Amino acid sequence: MDRDEDLEALRAAAAMALEYAATVDDRPATPDTAAFAGLGAFDEPLPQAGVPASETLRLLHAAGSPATMASAGARYFGFVIGATLPAALGAAWLTSAWDQNAALPVMSPVAAKLHDVTRGWLLELLGLPAGSAVAYVTGATVANASCLAAARDTLLARLGWDAQADGLFGAPAFDVVIGEGAHSTLLKSLGLVGLGRSRVHVVPADDQGRMRADALPDLAGPVLVCAQAGEVNTGAFDPFDEIADWLAARPHAAPGWLHVDGAFGLWALADPGRRHLVAGLDRADSWATDGHKWLNVTHDCGLAVVRDPAHLRRTFTAAAGYVPAGDTFDPMHHTPQSSQRARQVEVWAALRTLGRAGVAGLVTRACDAAAEIARRLAVGGLTVLNEVVLNQVLVRLDGEPGDTAGGAAEGDALTAALIAEIQADGRIWCGPTRWRGRTAMRVSVSSWKTGPEDAAFAADVILTCAARVRATLVPLP
Ligand SMILES: Cc1ncc(COP(=O)(O)O)c(C=O)c1O
Repeated sequence: MDRDEDLEALRAAAAMALEYAATVDDRPATPDTAAFAGLGAFDEPLPQAGVPASETLRLLHAAGSPATMASAGARYFGFVIGATLPAALGAAWLTSAWDQNAALPVMSPVAAKLHDVTRGWLLELLGLPAGSAVAYVTGATVANASCLAAARDTLLARLGWDAQADGLFGAPAFDVVIGEGAHSTLLKSLGLVGLGRSRVHVVPADDQGRMRADALPDLAGPVLVCAQAGEVNTGAFDPFDEIADWLAARPHAAPGWLHVDGAFGLWALADPGRRHLVAGLDRADSWATDGHKWLNVTHDCGLAVVRDPAHLRRTFTAAAGYVPAGDTFDPMHHTPQSSQRARQVEVWAALRTLGRAGVAGLVTRACDAAAEIARRLAVGGLTVLNEVVLNQVLVRLDGEPGDTAGGAAEGDALTAALIAEIQADGRIWCGPTRWRGRTAMRVSVSSWKTGPEDAAFAADVILTCAARVRATLVPLP
């Protein structure tokens, strides 16, 4: 080990990371074939003696950077994958250099302080109850699972059962209610915490994927309801006030818990222009969201927010002589993991740099870009399937009257061909989905960088690709 050599390797790595950050907008959204082929450089036997760090890092940049998706850029519209704010990226670098374990305040005073600061800021920004706990986890899947585990144990405790001591064997039953449009990972989270993926009441959704409050089941017993802020295809919001009213109207003795999966949609709370979507959202008992999606911090950062911190603590305490559960907020006693990265550092940097107005602006800008893309695509002859209330656009390429593609199956094939054409084109990236039994394309605007010019550019690429696909259609004889 040579200190100078180590520092030189780190300087070089920082320069390579800077170069990547500076050029990501100029990269194709999808790596080219040479970049895929270049990944073969990693196919080597585990070195016997090891190689210098500088050489390893050089290989990582040379073969790895070209084979990235440019999801940190302005023109990536796949899944719901946020880019990274410069403040968050810089904070991530510093956090890595610190290498703090944020499990307990005693392990990292700065992590504990910034946890406390971000907790207050986030609750204020999102208008959630001031005393709530905010726990950092890897993503919304684990945030949902954390909240659902706390909900499970709380409901069972109210029914006289200690789930942490005795498990679920022989525990009193309670009902679980989800919407038809619930995210697939919410089912994973339900399965993970022993509540079952199929043992749920599924409430039908309306044409936007919103839970239909008028179709909530007639349940008088204890119940856990999972609502959603931001349907993954349409961006639609469940009617929280009506769901909370339904819960409150049930017999007083029956315990209830309302959880909201807001992996990206929860950030709409920060935008005063979107109040109509989020009415009643603050009446829930727990909320899950992601920092890595719409707040644009690096992966992986999820947040579990629980109204009463004691409910997280009941489920996740893992005290031992050397890791006592103190009076302060101990992350390892409020989350599934013990050792953990100090994710709050990036969240702090993002919030401080953006400010309240900046977070609202981030949301508004993405929603405006989505609306503009939808407008241009509709004018250009594509079918926009959703009301564009947030950052998601759901579109389809249907056949024009008179050509071969009149029916739904042809529309499916055309839409799949459009997606393939866009991905092959490589200037932007959009992915497929199934919506109401049909193939559709999703355009998700989740990057702080995406502005009106990028929206116009994206629409232009999509329409050009659609024209190419249409040009291949053979007219009916
Ligand atoms: C509504 C919803 N819930 C949960 C998730 C899972 O989030 P993560 O991948 O961060 O675990 C997603 C991801 O897109 C989502 O959209």
